[in-house]
Order: sequence, then C-alpha cells, then structure tokens
Amino acid sequence: MTQWDDSQTEHVSDDITDESNALPARYFTEPDVFEMEKEKVFGRYWVYAGHANAIKEPGQYFTRDVGNRKLIIVRGHDGRPKAFDNVCAHRGSKMVEDTPMTDPGDASRIQCPYHLWTYDLDGTLRSTPRSFEEASLNPDLEDEDVRELDPEENALNAVNVDTIGPFIFVNLSDDPMPLEEQAGEMKDRLEALPLGEYEHACRIVSEVECNWKVFASNYSECDHCQSNHQDWIEGIQLDESELEVNDYHWVLHYTHEEDVDDELRIHDEHEAQFHYLWPNFTVNMYGTADGYGTYVIDPIDTDRFQLIADYYFEDADLSDEEEEFVRTSRQLQEEDFELVERQWEGLKTGALAQAQLGPNEHTVHRFHRLAQEAYNS
Ligand code: FES
Ligand SMILES: [Fe+2]
Repeated sequence: MTQWDDSQTEHVSDDITDESNALPARYFTEPDVFEMEKEKVFGRYWVYAGHANAIKEPGQYFTRDVGNRKLIIVRGHDGRPKAFDNVCAHRGSKMVEDTPMTDPGDASRIQCPYHLWTYDLDGTLRSTPRSFEEASLNPDLEDEDVRELDPEENALNAVNVDTIGPFIFVNLSDDPMPLEEQAGEMKDRLEALPLGEYEHACRIVSEVECNWKVFASNYSECDHCQSNHQDWIEGIQLDESELEVNDYHWVLHYTHEEDVDDELRIHDEHEAQFHYLWPNFTVNMYGTADGYGTYVIDPIDTDRFQLIADYYFEDADLSDEEEEFVRTSRQLQEEDFELVERQWEGLKTGALAQAQLGPNEHTVHRFHRLAQEAYNS
C-alpha cells in the first residue's frame, strides 16, 4: 500500500499483488544511493558502451563514462572491440580526450600526452621515452641500474567487453555474470535481426531533471500512454499490446496499423517492440520506418540524467518516413520528460515514502526488484 511514513516502508515484495510492491522513495532521492549505484549497479552489470559500426577499423575508438570510470573502447588489431580504463599506467593521467561514438577517434596506438608512454591496441606498454630508460638526471643511479619495464605488467587496465549484435557492452566487475545471462531472451531476439546493417543517422542528447530510475520506470510502463501520448497512440491498438517480462529484460509489444516495409518486423508485419535491458539501455523499433533507435539513460547525479538517443537507418540521409520516425520519438521523449520532471517535483519533497504499483506496472515492479537486489548484493 501507499506509505506516507518512512518508518513504515518495506522491501519490494517478489509478488506484485502484495501490499509492498514498489521501491521505497528514498532510493530515488538520497545522494548516498547514487554513490552506492555506481558500485552495485553500474560497477557490476553489463552497461551499453556504443555501436560496433562506429569503430569498424582497427584503431578506431570512442570513450564512455560509466559511474566514476572513464573508458576507451577500441577496435583491436584482431578485429575485436576492447575496453580499457582511459588512465595511464605511469602516473594515472587521463590519456585520450572524451570522444563520443558519433565522432570516433583513430589511432594506431594509445599515447598518454603527459610523459608519452605508448600502448598497443591490446593495452600492452609498447614504448616509453628515453627518460625512462636512462637515469641521466639522477646522480644516484647508473643507466644500467634502470629496471626495464615489463610491457604486460605495465599494461592498461582491461575492462570486460562483449557484444549483442552490433551493441558493445562493458562490465566493470572482476567476476561478471555472462552478458548472455543478463540479456537472456533479448540476445537471441536481437541477434536474429540484421541490426548491424544499419548506419548511425542522428543523435539527440537531453538533460532531464529527475533521478534516472524515474525515467526508466516511466519508459517501462504504458499506463500513462493513453492520456499523455495522444498523437502516438493514434493508429496503435494499445489494448492489443503486451508487456513481456524476463529476468533483466522486458519488452512492450504493440501493433501498428500502418503498413511499412520494415526488415525489423520478425514476428508480425505490424509489430513494434520497445526492449529495456537492465540497468539503463533500450532498443526501440517503432514499426513506422525501417530502422531502430537506442536510448541510454545515463545518471549525472541523484537529480539529473542524460538521455542519449541514437537512430539507425539504411544510411545517414533520412527519407520522409525516417524523419517522421525521429520526430515521433522526439515527441514521445518530450512528453515523457514533462511527466517525469513533474513526478520528480513531487517525489523530491520527501512526502511519499513508498509508492503503490498497479497490475500493469509489472515491468516497473521488475525494475524496482532488480534495483533492490543490486543494493542488497
Ligand atoms: S602519466 Fe602517462 S606518461 Fe606519465
Ligand atoms: Fe511515455
């Protein structure tokens, strides 16, 4: 049941029909929780890093921040994506400038600008300047006393990396669960689609005033759609839609009346799908144009997140249908931003201690359960 008194809150029950079925509100509003999430959520689960088509050639790279960590994702000489902390093994300088996936860098090796330690694309130390090989400024050492630096022992810090189709994920844990376990059903379903054949066409980044979990919860349910996405629901049979929940992944399936030649419709020619993968990644197929979008819901702090929306079509020149796809998506975002910012104004007053979820908010329930599971781990 709804609780207005903090001392009365309980953990999220496994059963949505129980009285206590939502994550207590303090987990959305307290700064300590965000610090804990850096370790227990973003430090343990697979997090989307970017699209493989951005780094098709060896040496192409982009950077990505996850929690407090700064990562480089680079295509290795063996053709596989690798991830490293963007931190030099010498004295810890950040090495390459922040480089978004939409404007990737290209380097045959990774060089730290501070004292020019240089690393191969597999992270091993390849060379150091002469000042690390000769003790010319040190009166207490002879050149022959200088210890040779082992390339492996002074390599960059490698971070786990794996893929689902063209989507590259990273995991900061020393002992991660396999990505296929976290993705479950989603892996097979997405890998059955030709997602890698589509090219990045545009990116829209928005900063929104609410906790990231508020937007994630809103994205996951459609009880608000009828009253808040009135343009979008025209032409959609909302009562025929279905919210499927798996372990770390849930999907909104819905049908679209319009007939479009879309390679991504596998089950039914009218079916569209919104996939959510815990903790903060979505893949959106609207069924109105041949292409897809992805969202990353990246927390900035307790009160703000950044929504990074990327769109993929046959090529970067958008057809009228594709422009309409992006416009629809943008309109949905703006309508949702208004909802979640208003919800946040209420939540951050601290008046509500624990919400009450309805029967069709089972996806939100799953999300809240996963958050609780992560906090308790
Ligand atoms: S900190 Fe990178 S070379 Fe010195
Ligand atoms: Fe919405």
